[in-house]
Amino acid sequence: MAALSLEAQRRNPAPAGVAPDWTVPQHWSRYTPEQHGIWNRLFERQQAQLARRVVPAFRTGVEVLGLGAHGIPRFEALNERLSAITGWSVVAVPGIVPEEVFFHHLANRRFVAGRFIRTPAQLDYLQEPDVFHDVFGHVPLLADAAYARYMQAYGEAGVRAREGPILRHLARLYWYTVEFGLMRARDGLRLFGAGIVSSNGESAYALDSREPLRIGFDVCRIMRTEYRIDSFQKNYFVIDSFEDLVRRTADADFTELYAQLAALPSIPVGTHLPGDVLYPPNPQLSCAQAQRGEPLPVI
Ligand code: PHE
Ligand code: FE
Repeated sequence: MAALSLEAQRRNPAPAGVAPDWTVPQHWSRYTPEQHGIWNRLFERQQAQLARRVVPAFRTGVEVLGLGAHGIPRFEALNERLSAITGWSVVAVPGIVPEEVFFHHLANRRFVAGRFIRTPAQLDYLQEPDVFHDVFGHVPLLADAAYARYMQAYGEAGVRAREGPILRHLARLYWYTVEFGLMRARDGLRLFGAGIVSSNGESAYALDSREPLRIGFDVCRIMRTEYRIDSFQKNYFVIDSFEDLVRRTADADFTELYAQLAALPSIPVGTHLPGDVLYPPNPQLSCAQAQRGEPLPVI
């Protein structure tokens, strides 16, 4: 299953100059010093912002993969480390790829990444995922065994679903975990979604603001929930751990869930349903409280 099947290639013809599986060389030597500088600025800014906000596995990933403020990573060097740890690798693609191609790579433990980097005018916001979002945001957690397993199982689920309403439900699950997921810790909530950790503004907002809802993880609830791609999120979902996420998704049989979902209406963003477990924003803990590791109350 490593190569994209001929039928899949025919359904998703790659543009000229792009391999049949939609990958391209990174062309690392073509980055300018200014472009490496943009990576460095973004990296340093997010390292500071995330220090007490991100899940520990993310910081471990950054460290073991050798990510830092020393320029845009060379995928080849990154892959040597990453593949030795979990068997995942990063492949460059020219931009957004067809869903089927995306799922196929994930199912084979390959993460597709943009190779371009944003301009100085786009430091705070850009629409298409660039190499900073894709590599800094997504790749550190691929060094975590449970997260690595979740991503591969997700790709396999996508390959099986191929098209139809199931894909919409799977897309929502990806959005609310891989891109915008939160995790609970003893002393509050932590970030792990790539869309949050690569965004300076949202990495504070997602934990500190009183505006959005933070709802306990529930696959069915998530698969029914709409999402917005043009603003900070109106709701986030909170997992207990990556192991628990794997249990509730990869290890579960969704046949019945998919059948039930077909008859259930979508839930608009920012809706508080009676069954939702809600978490408050992270409080500004006093030193004594932080030391005692007091758990957050559930409201
Ligand atoms: N285990 C799910 C099923 O039975 C598939 C799945 C795995 C979905 C991982 C999402 C993430 O269909
Ligand atoms: Fe992303």
